[in-house]
Amino acid sequence: MAKHQTKYVCQSCGYVSPRWVGKCPNCSEWNTFVEEAPAPLKTVRRSGVPSALDPVPLDEVEREDVPRVRTSIGELDRVLGGGIVPGSLLLLGGDPGIGKSTLMMQAALALADQTVLYVTGEESVRQIKLRAERLERRSTKHVLLLAETNLDLILDVVERGSPDVLVIDSIQTMFRPGLESAPGSVSQVRESAALLLRLAKTRGIPVFLVGHVTKEGMIAGPKVIEHMVDCVLQFEGEAHYSYRVLRALKNRFGSTNEIGIFEMRETGLREVINPSEVFLAERHGGTSGSTVVAAIEGSRPILLEVQALVSSSNYGTPQRNSTGIDYRRLSLLLAVLEKRVGLHLGSQDVFVNVAGGLRIDEPAVDLGVAASIASSHRDVAVDPQAVAVGEIGLGGEIRAVGHVEKRVQEAAKLGFKRIILPRSSARIVKPADGIEIVPVDRIDQAMEALLR
Ligand code: TYD
Ligand code: MG
Repeated sequence: MAKHQTKYVCQSCGYVSPRWVGKCPNCSEWNTFVEEAPAPLKTVRRSGVPSALDPVPLDEVEREDVPRVRTSIGELDRVLGGGIVPGSLLLLGGDPGIGKSTLMMQAALALADQTVLYVTGEESVRQIKLRAERLERRSTKHVLLLAETNLDLILDVVERGSPDVLVIDSIQTMFRPGLESAPGSVSQVRESAALLLRLAKTRGIPVFLVGHVTKEGMIAGPKVIEHMVDCVLQFEGEAHYSYRVLRALKNRFGSTNEIGIFEMRETGLREVINPSEVFLAERHGGTSGSTVVAAIEGSRPILLEVQALVSSSNYGTPQRNSTGIDYRRLSLLLAVLEKRVGLHLGSQDVFVNVAGGLRIDEPAVDLGVAASIASSHRDVAVDPQAVAVGEIGLGGEIRAVGHVEKRVQEAAKLGFKRIILPRSSARIVKPADGIEIVPVDRIDQAMEALLR
């Protein structure tokens, strides 16, 4: 076995040298090298007693079903993978003002048979009380508020009160007195999270950390602790819409596919159980530039309206603007429409918007986006009884998409009469009652089927 040797470490830049040097070859500082003692060799126990150091064969590891605490907010439980796992550390990130504190307070209030300690570093307990009063609630006695940012004091309170659930709002305001850096700095955020991680694991209580996603460089964002936590939830939405989407970006105890949809009301967040109906509620079928698409969010199909407005641009470079779909995807679709359908969009402003403020990243909505653009350009309405599904390839071909069955079912359920599908997807799907399946191979063919 190799002998452990003494190392010399530069205190300025961390450069490691096998011998002492006066000037650091890396950062050119003088007299910064300090001897670092070698780590003592661990002696391995050789007795017959199994220890934690003995590897366990994979098939002998006992499976344990993780018990979960349901919050009774269905959309939240779904994203968590069926409820909160005791002892887990969860991070809820999102833009300031999106509704993180509201969601946390609602979850706290919903956990009626648990004691929840809600620690706030941003608002006073009176402000929190005012918020809680707006929310629908059955009981409030089980929620304890604490306005504090010193983690050592907070841990004392946890020690004394032993709550069942801990909420820290927000991690960026917390600090450990031993550290010199300011609250919100990378080292404070990381150290605080590490301490709370230990707390969650040793006491077996779930700990929620609220984190603001901020512009890089200002305050350490929740990114720096994502690797430590069991679950990263992201709360998102467009500023001027009331819909909010909760996603799991990481989940050690469940899938990251599920999303929860909420609507921000005067009385807090309300779950949206039937998203398709809600998102299509304001649609005026029959106007040009509007197409209904069937997207998949998580494991759920959602029907959405994709709107486009095409108009001659009056000032030099034409504008292209997209809300809810990827801008680069829009550019690609415009190029395909120009080349394969012969639409002249070079001197046109093009605006695309997904109604309701939801964001969709699936290529399956390509066909809907293209149809809305073509419809607005020609000023011919898309068949209001039709739903468009399909990815568009660079050659203008309509490519297969996944989860066709679910999309067709949802379209049929909401009373649509036709669904335009890629031919290869149409081939494998079972027909549904009351809806005609229209298979298409190419974009021009699809436009003909949709714009009549
Ligand atoms: P908040 O939870 O404070 O956001 P965050 O903690 O993410 O910064 O919520 C902020 C917004 O939500 C605020 O603009 C007010 C609005 N709101 C409602 O519309 N209805 C409500 O019942 C509550 C509590 C907040
Ligand atoms: Mg807040």
